[in-house]
Amino acid sequence: MKARQLKVIGALTVAAVVTTACSGLIKGDPDERWADYKTWTKITEGRTGTGDPTGFIGNVHKGRDGYRDVYVNDIGKDTLLGSAPYVFPVGSVVVKEQFNNKADWEAQKNPGVTVSLKAVEGSGAATNWIWANSYTGTAGKSDFCAGCHTIAAKDDFVFTHEDFLSAEN
Ligand code: HEC
Repeated sequence: MKARQLKVIGALTVAAVVTTACSGLIKGDPDERWADYKTWTKITEGRTGTGDPTGFIGNVHKGRDGYRDVYVNDIGKDTLLGSAPYVFPVGSVVVKEQFNNKADWEAQKNPGVTVSLKAVEGSGAATNWIWANSYTGTAGKSDFCAGCHTIAAKDDFVFTHEDFLSAEN
């Protein structure tokens, strides 16, 4: 076998190892930890969020004119739909869809997607969470996301929990 062929095989092996290490993720595919979020519990069913109830929305999540729906996976569901203190188990994932306006929300048109994922045990540190800013994005540490969500530190960095939604709707 020629050296060049060996090199190609070597590169393919490395690529295979890297792909496996990333749990089979192929670029452009959503992370499997939230790929099927549409089948999860939609905690905003019948009580979609809009405006700026916290006073901290700024320009993120499509701002005060945006319409927002929130989904939670089974791991985080009981905590999110429960009551304070909110301490999420590792593996909890919260997905937020944000629409430009009411018409887009009604048509379910082009939502932006943001994701927060509890990656490390225990509450009390914003760095226990990792963040993705799109459906096909990569979750990782983010000072930008964590920084603002620190306002919700007493609720394990999650704003949209049952108490919040009950107060709004
Ligand atoms: C300027 C402040 C701010 C920044 C920056 C911010 N968020 Fe949020 N986020 C909020 C507020 C406020 C809410 C909920 C209340 C609302 O919709 O008004 C929220 C809600 C969420 C939710 C739904 C669960 C929850 O915590 O309520 C997710 C998921 C989320 N944000 C992810 C992200 C991600 C990912 C980033 C970074 C790309 C990010 N956020 C950056 C303020 C922020």
